[in-house]
This record gives sequence, structure tokens and C-alpha cells, in this order.
Amino acid sequence: MLIARSGLPGARCLLLSLLLLTVWEAGSGQLHYSVQEEAKHGTFVGRIAQDLGLELEDLVPRLFRVASKGRGDLLEVNLQNGILFVNSRIDREELCGRSAECSIHLEVIVDRPLQVFHVEVEVKDINDNPPMFSVTEQKISIPESRLLDSRFPLEGASDADVGENAMITYKLSSNEFFILNIISKKDKGKFPVLVLRKLLDREENPQLKLLLTATDGGKPEFTGSVSVFIFVLDANDNAPTFDRSVYEVKMYENQLNQTLVIWLNASDADEGINKEMVYSFSSLVPAIIRRKFLINEMTGEIKVNDYIDFEDRNIYEIHVDVTDKGAPPMVGHCTVLVEVLDENDNSPEVVVTSLALPVEENAQVGTVVALISVSDQDSGANGQVICSLTPHIPFKLVSTFKNYYSLVLDSTLDRETISEYELVVTARDGGSPSLWASASLLVEVADVNDNAPVFAQSEYTVFVKENNPPGCHIFTVSAHDADARENALVSYSLVERRVGERALSSYVSVHAESGKVYALQPLDHEELELLQFQVSARDSGVPPLGSNVTLQVFVLDENDNAPALLRPWTQGAGGSVSELVSRSVGAGHVVAKVRAVDADSGYNAWLSYELLPAKGSARSPFRVGLYTGEISTTRLLDEADAPSQSLLILVKDHGEPALTATTTVLVSLVENGQTPKASLRASAGAADAEVALVDVNVYLIIAICAISSLLVLTLLLYTALRCSEAPTEGACRPGKPTLVCSSAVGSWSYSQQRRQVCSGESPPKTDLMAFSPSIPPGSGSGDSGVQQEIFENLFLFVGHGVKGLKYIFSFNPNSFMIICKILYIELSKF
Ligand SMILES: *[C@@H]1O[C@H](CO)[C@@H](O)[C@H](O)[C@H]1NC(C)=O
Ligand SMILES: *[C@@H]1O[C@H](CO)[C@@H](O)[C@H](O)[C@H]1NC(C)=O
Ligand SMILES: *[C@@H]1O[C@H](CO)[C@@H](O)[C@H](O)[C@H]1NC(C)=O
Repeated sequence: MLIARSGLPGARCLLLSLLLLTVWEAGSGQLHYSVQEEAKHGTFVGRIAQDLGLELEDLVPRLFRVASKGRGDLLEVNLQNGILFVNSRIDREELCGRSAECSIHLEVIVDRPLQVFHVEVEVKDINDNPPMFSVTEQKISIPESRLLDSRFPLEGASDADVGENAMITYKLSSNEFFILNIISKKDKGKFPVLVLRKLLDREENPQLKLLLTATDGGKPEFTGSVSVFIFVLDANDNAPTFDRSVYEVKMYENQLNQTLVIWLNASDADEGINKEMVYSFSSLVPAIIRRKFLINEMTGEIKVNDYIDFEDRNIYEIHVDVTDKGAPPMVGHCTVLVEVLDENDNSPEVVVTSLALPVEENAQVGTVVALISVSDQDSGANGQVICSLTPHIPFKLVSTFKNYYSLVLDSTLDRETISEYELVVTARDGGSPSLWASASLLVEVADVNDNAPVFAQSEYTVFVKENNPPGCHIFTVSAHDADARENALVSYSLVERRVGERALSSYVSVHAESGKVYALQPLDHEELELLQFQVSARDSGVPPLGSNVTLQVFVLDENDNAPALLRPWTQGAGGSVSELVSRSVGAGHVVAKVRAVDADSGYNAWLSYELLPAKGSARSPFRVGLYTGEISTTRLLDEADAPSQSLLILVKDHGEPALTATTTVLVSLVENGQTPKASLRASAGAADAEVALVDVNVYLIIAICAISSLLVLTLLLYTALRCSEAPTEGACRPGKPTLVCSSAVGSWSYSQQRRQVCSGESPPKTDLMAFSPSIPPGSGSGDSGVQQEIFENLFLFVGHGVKGLKYIFSFNPNSFMIICKILYIELSKF
């Protein structure tokens, strides 16, 4: 300071005076007052006049004045009492700012002598200023990731006062995160610093509001405060999370593509980019799941992306990651369990696994024909299958094990009735609606030789005309076998037997395959009228089955035998026969009787006699009985008649064409008295025998007629009784015999219903025949009577009674008479 002053060249004088003053001051002391700032007007400061040693009465004359450099009139002196007082408000801070010492320098000047006094008035500080912050609030951003003990300086407060009044202490509102630390810097005072004591968490406390209070040291103290806003900045310290770790989803199979399975919502407590999330399948998720499901990275929706088939897989475990976009990213996890529910989307399947086909028709009930297995891939009721069979006869399904069935024969089979069965096995599951499947099965029934060949009738009647050509086909037997193939292949054979002296096979043969029956040789009615034999039919099964049919071959008569004259009328024997007739005999006298027989039968054996007119003789007195063969006179003989007459007699049968024989009778007319015995004697022995024979025959015929009549009568009565008892049955109705064969000659007819006609229970002799006549040709006047009878009568029974004897019984329903007619007598056969 001194050096500086000495450095001022033009002020040596002033310097000297200042030195003097300083000495004075030092010697006399300098007045020093103090006054508190902000004192009231008029506040007493000091008795300045007295203290300077000035007289009160000198003040005015000596022009006592106080000058203050630039300070105006803060202080004033009362010239009356020489007291310095506060004239106007003194603000220390205004006066001195922040300097610790503050005083007002007064120059007190009095004239005469001029004296200058320096008075120092110290302005004492009072605490009139609170600590002040420059801003009303402070904002600090702190990342939540800051470590403990991190420090964050705050702006401090300032106090316009000085000294104690400016000694600021800070205080922080109570909080758990920060404490206040004060840093003192040498010149610049104290600075508050926030120190992190507890880790921040934005997610918990994104913002903190603290109050920093500054207090000065004055008495009384003043405080000032500022709000400190702490913004906690986000750090990626939170992983995205799902609200559950496992989500269970149930869904039906066969969902449409893109059906939503689950919408995952993860949350991230962070903010901004730290909470932006990306969903993805975890790396653990196998490819199959990645194919079946699709996750939307942005939204977290999991959707179906492929066919979901319960039967394929029924549970999916999907691990999902969610990653935020912070740095470093954080990952959250969850598991989605997708349980696939079954739908009835699978039809049952029917498999026929094994077949024992074809089934033999004699298979036992219970025979297993096929094994059937059914399956359904669905589960629960959807997979429960019920099997049914149509038609359910004659097979049935037997459940052997769950879903395995046997097709079992339930009743007996017969290939001949039904040769194959088309079975349908239907499997139906228990879903709703239920699905079904069916399998059809053709069960063939294999043939077993259980049917013998069968003839349509048990016996056949065949009519064959005699004199057939050798080897002619007379009949065809045919048997039907209901079996199949070789079991139905029928072969025919003759059941061999003896016919008289000969073997049957010399008469007939049967073609093994065709069943044609051939007559091997010409048949002769006169030798064999009825050939009865059996044809056997056998099939080719193993073992073979067979049956027999009876053939009755009637050999029909042909007119192949001419009438034969009996001795003595035989032409070749002794020429003509001579008869002696007395001229005196009357008309109608029987002269002789011509006898002839015919080996044929029926009309073919019915003989008639005719007298052929002799040459020249205009008028013969003789005639011959048409059927009797009796030669008798027609009138009285007279002289005109030649004594010897030759009568030519024609014997004719009724065959077609008729066969004839002739004989000549020589009649010699003798006068009365002449005995004819001579001529007769020649043939007496023969005639006697003949008469005796005729007598025997007549008795025989009568006896037979009587017996036969009785028999027929009995039969008729019995029949009539039966018919009257049961008239509706019709079995015994007369008439309508079925005609099987008719010959032009007379119609020997054979009735199929002959047993009915003759009343069933007691069948008559097998050779009884019904005879339905037709008009025989060439009816003469004499046989019209017989014919008439035949026409009127309904039944004609032909009896083969005694050997060689044939007779006809006819019954006339009009007259109720039984007529017996003997057609001829085969005397030769006696
Ligand atoms: C996810 O959010 C969506 C839309 O708000 C909602 O439909 C869905 O159910 C939520 N997912 C879960 C699993 O809560
Ligand atoms: C399902 O839809 C997606 C997208 O449209 C497609 O890629 C996928 O092939 C579909 N899946 C099936 C099975 O159709
Ligand atoms: C057929 O006739 C023969 C010979 O009489 C006999 O052996 C056989 O048993 C008969 N067959 C039948 C099926 O009656």
C-alpha cells in the first residue's frame, strides 16, 4: 500500500497530510461506532460531538458538518445535542455486499480551525436474509442402474448475510435412497451432494421428489428450500414375464388353419425399447411343433398352421420365449400345453382277417367261418365299435376279444336251398353322429353229396308196340340231383334180374349218361306182355348216392297173328270137313260149328265168321253165326238144293288190318232115314273130346264169372260207400281215367289213377285196367249190341284171370248191372 502510494508522483503534499492525520489519529484515537443495519430512523449511534471534544455551542459556528463518501444521508448529526443518529434505512448487504467488514466512513469537518475527523461507523449485520436457491426446483435424471455411493451434486443456496448469518446448513427431506453430503470448498463455500444409499428402481419409483432445506446460522435462523426432482431413468433390468408359467389349452382336433390357440400376453416392467417384446418358440421346440403351430412374433398369438390330428398326437408342449429389445435383451419363458380333444373323425375299419371258405354245407353249427377285427382310431365313445351282421341267419358274430369277432355258423346250411350268402358286417362307433363302415363277405356253401338223384315218379309205365325194331328207343329216364358238379353227375344202370329164362339185359339196356332205354330185340306181346324192371341212378359223389325207378313196359298187341282154325277145321290137316245133313231138318238146325282162335288179344283176337258165297250156287240154305261160328240152316231143305254143298267159311279177326283164315265145309244132304253117323264117325273121337272140353269150359266160365262178379260187386259197393262218405274228395270219382297210350285198335288204356278208381286201401290186382273204348271199325249188325254196351258202360275191367282166359267186366251205371263178357278162350293154352 505504501509502495503504491509512493508511486503516485503529484501527491506528495497530500501524502504528508495523510501521514500527519494518521499520527493524530493514532495519538488521539479514532471514533468508532457501530450500528445495526436496518435500524430505525433516529436510532442513536453515538455522541459524536462530545467524543470529538467539540463544544455543543461551537458546532453551528464552526460549521460542523458530516460528509460521507457516496453514502448519502444514512446517518445524521443532531447539531443541538451533537448525537449521531440513523437517518434512513441502512442495508448492510447493499452497502457492502458480501464483504465481511462493513462500515460507513464519516468525515467530520469543522472550520475555524479547520479540523477533519474520521469517524468509522460499523454497520453490524443482522440476519435479515434467508438462504436462497437460484432455482425453485432442481431436476436430476439418474439411471436406475447407478451403483450405490454414486454422487450427484446439487446446487447450493446462498445467503446475502455474512458471518453466522450466512453459515448455511443443509437438510434433505427424509427418503430411503439418498443422503446428503456437504462438500466444503475453501473459497466457494459448501456444496450439497446427493449420495445414493439404496439402489433405485424405476419400476417401483420412477420419480422421487426431495426437499432440500438450507438454514443459515443467524438468530433467528432463516431457511430456504428447493424441490429436487429425481427422474429415475429406465434400465433393462426387467425380463418380460407371463402371468403364468404354464398355460393349458384344450382344443378339438381338425381345427381350421389359422385358428387361434392362445393369445399370450407377456409384460415387461421396463419402458421404452426395454419393454418391446418379441415372441418366439424356444429353441427346445421340435420341428414338428414349429410346423403345426405358428407364433406371431409381435402379438404373441399362437395359431394352428397345420392339421391337428388327435390320433397323430394329442398333447403338445410348446415352450415360448419372449425377448425384449433392451441391451442386453432379457428373456421370459412360459409353456403352453395344448391338449387336443378327440372328434369322431375316424370311421371304424372292418378287416376280415381269415376265411375258411367255402363252407361245406354239412359244417357243424359253431364252425368259425371268418375272423373279423374292427378298429377305430378315435378314443372314448368315438372309438367304441359295435358290430352287426346282416342277414343274421344262419351266421352270427361272436365276440372273442375286444373288437375281435368270429363269424360263426349259427344254424345248418343247405347248399341246395341257398348256395351263397352275401353277408355285410357293419361296424358303428359310439360317436354322435356315429360313423360306420361295412365289409361284405361272400360265403359260398360248398356242395356235399347229400342229395340222391331223384326221379320225378317212382315208376313209369311205358307202352311199346310189339315187333319193334331191335335197338329202338323206348323211353328216357331222367333223375335230377340237387347237388352240384360231380355230386350231381348222374349215371344210369339197369338193375339186373332174370326174366324167365333170360337175363333182363338181353331185353333192354340203359345208356349210362343219357338215360335212354332201348329195347334190344323185338318184343312179342304174345310172349311177354309186361316187362317190369328197375333203373338205378347214381351220382358221382363220394360216397355215391342213388335211387331206383321202376319201369313197367307194356308190350302192346299188334295184329300179327291170323286166326287159327281148330281141328278138325285146320286146312292143312285133312282137307275139308264133311258134314251129313238130313234133308228133313227144319230151319235153324245147327249143322256144324267152326272153331278158331287168335293168338292176339283184344280186337285182334275177336273173331268173326262169314260164309263166303259159293260159285254158282245162287241161294245157299246155310249161314254161319257171325261170332259163334255155328253153321245152321236158314230154311227147309228141298229137292232143289244140291246134295253136296261146299261151304267156304272166312274167319276174320278185328285187327287193323284184319287177318283172315278160311276153311271149307262139305255138307252132304241125305234123305230121311239115312244115318249121318257114318260120316261123323270118322271124327267121333275128336268130337267127343271137344264136347267134353266145351262143357268143362262152360262150367269154368260160369264159375269165374260168378266169382269175378262177386269181387267186382264188392269193390263197387265198397267204392260207392266210400264215395258217399266223402263225396268231396274226388279221389274215387268215376270216369276220366288218364289216357296214356291208345291204340287204333281198341284203346287199351292205362290209368294213372287206377288205384284211386279202384279205391285205394285194398289195391286190386295190378293188372286190372280201365278200358275206355273207341268205336271199333267195321261194325257189323251183330256186334252193334256189344258195342252199344261198351259205349254205355263206364268201366271195363279186363281180367287176366285163369291162364289164357280174358274177360271183360263192364258196369252200366244206368242199369246198375255188371256185365261180364268173355272175349275169347285160348283153348290151345289149356
Ligand atoms: C391377451 O390379450 C388379449 C387381448 O387383450 C386377450 O384377448 C387374451 O385373452 C389375453 N391372453 C391371455 C392368455 O390372457
Ligand atoms: C395354413 O396357413 C398357412 C398360412 O396361410 C400356410 O402357410 C399353411 O400351408 C397352411 N396349412 C395348411 C395345412 O393348409
Ligand atoms: C336199387 O335196387 C338195387 C337192386 O334191387 C338195390 O340193391 C339198391 O339198394 C336199390 N337202391 C335204392 C336206393 O333203393
